[in-house]
Amino acid sequence: MYPSSGSLLCWLCVLLPGALAVSHVPVLLWSTQRSLWDTLPSVNNGHITTRQELHEIMKTTTESTKNLVVFLQDTLSVDDFTYYSSVYGNENPLRNIQGIMDSAPSFLVLPAVDWKTIDGLLGYLRTQEDWNEVLVTSDSLTVELDEEKPNLIIVKLQSIPRSSERSAAEAFSQNDEQIGKFTRDLAERGVPVTAIYTGMRPSKASKTVFDSPKSGRQLLAVDTTVTYPPLNVTNGTVTCILIYAKSFIVTANTSATFDLTNSTFSSKTVKTASSECSESNTTLSLFYKSPGNGLDSLEIRFFMTNQFYTGSARNWFKIENVMIIPNQQKEKNATFNTTYASAPAEYAYHCQQVGTSSLYPETFVPINSEAKNWEIYIYEFQIQGFNIKNNLFSYASDCSSFFSAAIWMGLVSSIILLWILSYGIFMIMQLTTNDKFDDPKGPTLSIPQSD
Ligand SMILES: *[C@@H]1O[C@H](CO)[C@@H](O)[C@H](O)[C@H]1NC(C)=O
Ligand SMILES: *[C@@H]1O[C@H](CO)[C@@H](O)[C@H](O)[C@H]1NC(C)=O
Ligand SMILES: *[C@@H]1O[C@H](CO)[C@@H](O)[C@H](O)[C@H]1NC(C)=O
Ligand SMILES: *[C@@H]1O[C@H](CO)[C@@H](O)[C@H](O)[C@H]1NC(C)=O
Ligand SMILES: *[C@@H]1O[C@H](CO)[C@@H](O)[C@H](O)[C@H]1NC(C)=O
Ligand SMILES: *[C@@H]1O[C@H](CO)[C@@H](O)[C@H](O)[C@H]1NC(C)=O
Ligand SMILES: *[C@@H]1O[C@H](CO)[C@@H](O)[C@H](O)[C@H]1NC(C)=O
Repeated sequence: MYPSSGSLLCWLCVLLPGALAVSHVPVLLWSTQRSLWDTLPSVNNGHITTRQELHEIMKTTTESTKNLVVFLQDTLSVDDFTYYSSVYGNENPLRNIQGIMDSAPSFLVLPAVDWKTIDGLLGYLRTQEDWNEVLVTSDSLTVELDEEKPNLIIVKLQSIPRSSERSAAEAFSQNDEQIGKFTRDLAERGVPVTAIYTGMRPSKASKTVFDSPKSGRQLLAVDTTVTYPPLNVTNGTVTCILIYAKSFIVTANTSATFDLTNSTFSSKTVKTASSECSESNTTLSLFYKSPGNGLDSLEIRFFMTNQFYTGSARNWFKIENVMIIPNQQKEKNATFNTTYASAPAEYAYHCQQVGTSSLYPETFVPINSEAKNWEIYIYEFQIQGFNIKNNLFSYASDCSSFFSAAIWMGLVSSIILLWILSYGIFMIMQLTTNDKFDDPKGPTLSIPQSD
């Protein structure tokens, strides 16, 4: 039994723009030179430009251009254009860029480029030519160009404050103005240029444009939407555990609540020194001194294993159990087994809600009597205990993955409807024609009592 293709499509259309907006940045290119990118195959909207493709394009560009201007902004997303150019009506904060693009002899828009590629873009460009490099900050508007050598002009635009839409629009407007002035100045001097406008990071998807429900996978792209970084645990020099949550609450005896979110992730007063890492077993120990409610200390341990499972022919990372130790009294530990908390060993594990309630997609089951006195609630939980590269979460495997509540609801209601339908069909098939009819002219039909 599968959900209808309609709901499947809908699910995809919710997921896709979110994913596109979160981990990709647009790259806009324009040139005073005619038909510069004509030989390139056209890019459709859903296409994600790879590092190699971008480098290919840059190669074509640098080969045929003498002056390259790179306008770099801290954050930029493709929906900034749709959002900021429509919301503010006549005072379109991006009018200069749009004007330049419209009147440029050739232009190219790459709607989705993996943002990590942009990090290395300048480095790549530098290897392409023997440039005269010029760095322009927001106050200097005219640049000295070298007549002999090709010029690489890097314009660092002011950053966009994403906290408020008003101030973001204002900053966009000023950046747009700067790009406009700069381009007009070069045009007046008759300097042929090719320009690139992009962002170092994607911005958060604008609420109005992609008003999608939290799909859980938004955290995947890491550090773009989070207010604080994940907690990292290092053994020696390598980061071996990363943990993140938006809310982390432990309750004892239904009344003593410990909100550990702040001390774990913001103020970081938590001690992780007792954590241990190895290739196969990892223990994350979170130790809180004076957590309140009359306790001297509270320790929470997550045991994770990395094992080969023959059934799937690969290593899996599993959270085996969770232990709460109050006041360092190990004999009073409250221990919980997890139900499914696992992911392929190269991945992180993500779950929107985990805890002791059976309503959550991942439930912690008490396995000793002490555990029955404790409740755990973790919201937007993400953890990785193995194979961490560059101190960043890997792709996260989601606990509810495909079978979210909405899908279940659709599934259950379609099963009920199908059942009603099949019952109806079954009943219709039971209908038979009478084999005896009353003949008004003949004698009255008599049905024998015993047959
Ligand atoms: C751990 O996180 C802190 C704060 O977020 C950061 O300063 C530090 O560089 C990180 N350590 C490693 C090894 O990434
Ligand atoms: C919870 O109640 C039990 C028994 O009433 C008590 O021993 C324990 O200390 C209490 N836990 C906390 C954290 O107050
Ligand atoms: C987090 O803790 C710090 C210091 O303990 C405090 O200043 C801050 O207000 C706390 N933040 C929240 C949201 O509780
Ligand atoms: C650190 O962790 C790695 C695996 O994550 C392990 O191989 C190594 O032995 C650990 N080092 C120490 C000092 O525990
Ligand atoms: C890992 O944990 C298992 C049981 O959970 C234990 O048998 C094994 O010895 C541990 N391995 C290491 C290296 O600590
Ligand atoms: C946890 O408590 C049980 C008794 O409830 C005890 O047998 C066990 O050894 C304790 N575990 C640890 C790691 O101390
Ligand atoms: C908890 O998990 C361990 C190993 O994962 C298993 O041996 C044990 O039987 C489980 N306990 C319960 C009560 O399910």
